[in-house]
Formats: sequence, structure tokens, C-alpha cells
Amino acid sequence: MDLLAISGSPSTPSKTALLLEVAVRRAAEHEGVDAGLLNLRDHDVVFSDGRDPGGYTGDTRTVIDRVVAADALIVGTPMYRGGYTGRLKNLFDVLPNDALAGKPVGLVASGGTDHHYLAIEHELKPLVGFFRAWAAPGAVYANNTHFEDGELTDDGVRDRLAELVDTVVTFARRMPRGAAGAAGPEIPRRSLRES
Ligand SMILES: Cc1cc2nc3c(=O)[nH]c(=O)nc-3n(C[C@H](O)[C@H](O)[C@H](O)COP(=O)(O)O)c2cc1C
Repeated sequence: MDLLAISGSPSTPSKTALLLEVAVRRAAEHEGVDAGLLNLRDHDVVFSDGRDPGGYTGDTRTVIDRVVAADALIVGTPMYRGGYTGRLKNLFDVLPNDALAGKPVGLVASGGTDHHYLAIEHELKPLVGFFRAWAAPGAVYANNTHFEDGELTDDGVRDRLAELVDTVVTFARRMPRGAAGAAGPEIPRRSLRES
């Protein structure tokens, strides 16, 4: 099973990436799980210009293909202005509509404080819903006090990450990929240029 963690943080170093590194290490402890981290900060994903996702090339294509190939995802973002980052939004804008269908998605976020914890419910879960993916219950949120000297130091957050990863792995193993609910109505992608 291919589990991909995606970090939407533009920063180096990144607390979000640290959380995801912990998650990836946990995932790799499961037999048969090939776990990797995709740091969007390291990739030159172009802004969506409305074209069909099949038309992207270069780094954008590489990133799209990695997400499409994954069986399970952990998606992480820093809170930016009460929501997820523009970089992460852009990734979702360039993905094909069926890129995540039927896949389990664990959600992870970091913020300065706990003020925006519920943005996971209000912002990230609808995004997962759009893609007909399964949002794992029990997302993980960390704040500044959970880190020290460039490390995740909070055992509670570490434990919750392990629980989230274990849930995502179990779900991916047991749930047939085709289980994605009703297909949405076909929305033809048609720009003014083509009409
Ligand atoms: C542009 C910007 C906007 C931010 N907005 C919020 C916010 O709305 N709520 C919050 O809790 N933290 C906010 N923060 C703080 C970051 O979410 C927090 O430091 C996070 O852990 C950074 O993660 P990273 O190290 O992975 O980039 C903001 C930081 C930046 C740079």
C-alpha cells in the first residue's frame, strides 16, 4: 500500500512537515506500507489556469501523478488566516476530480494557537468530500507549545498522530477502492475559449 503524506507548508523548517514526518515513520512500521512525504514547498506546482488536469506537465505532472498513485493520504497544513494554505488549495485545484475517490484521508494541521482547530472540520473536510474521499475521524491539530528546539515534544500529539495513521492504514486495507458513494453529476470543463 502506498501512503502519501502531503505538506502544504511553504516554510523551512516546518512544524507541519515535522508532524507528517512522525506520521510517515509510524505508517512505515506497518507491514506492506510504503510511506512517503510530499513537501509542496519543494515542488514547482503551477497555478491552476482552468485547463484539463491531464494537460499539466513537469513538476506539476509529477506531483499530480504521485497523489493519484497513492492508496491513502495524510494531508497536513499550517493554519493561514483561519484556513489552509494557498499552496495546498492549488494542489487540489490541479488534481483530476477522481484523484482521491474512495481513498482514506487523515487530516493534520498546525497553528500558532488552538484558535482555528475547527477549520479542519469547516475547511478541509468539505474539500475531502468534494473528491469523494473518506475523511478519517479524529484529525490531529498541534500548536506552538507542542514544539521545542525544532522538534515535536508533545507526547499527546505524537500518540494522536499514531492513532490517526493506524486508522487510515486499517481503512485502506479493508475498504475496497471503488467504495466512493454516488458519482457527482458530470460537470463539463468548458472555458469560454472552447464554447
Ligand atoms: C501568513 C500566516 C498566517 C497565519 N495564520 C494563522 C491563523 O490564522 N491561525 C493560527 O493559529 N496560526 C496562524 N499562523 C501561524 C502558523 O499557522 C503556525 O506557526 C504554523 O505552525 C506554521 O506551520 P509551518 O511551520 O508548517 O509552516 C499563520 C502564519 C502565517 C505565516
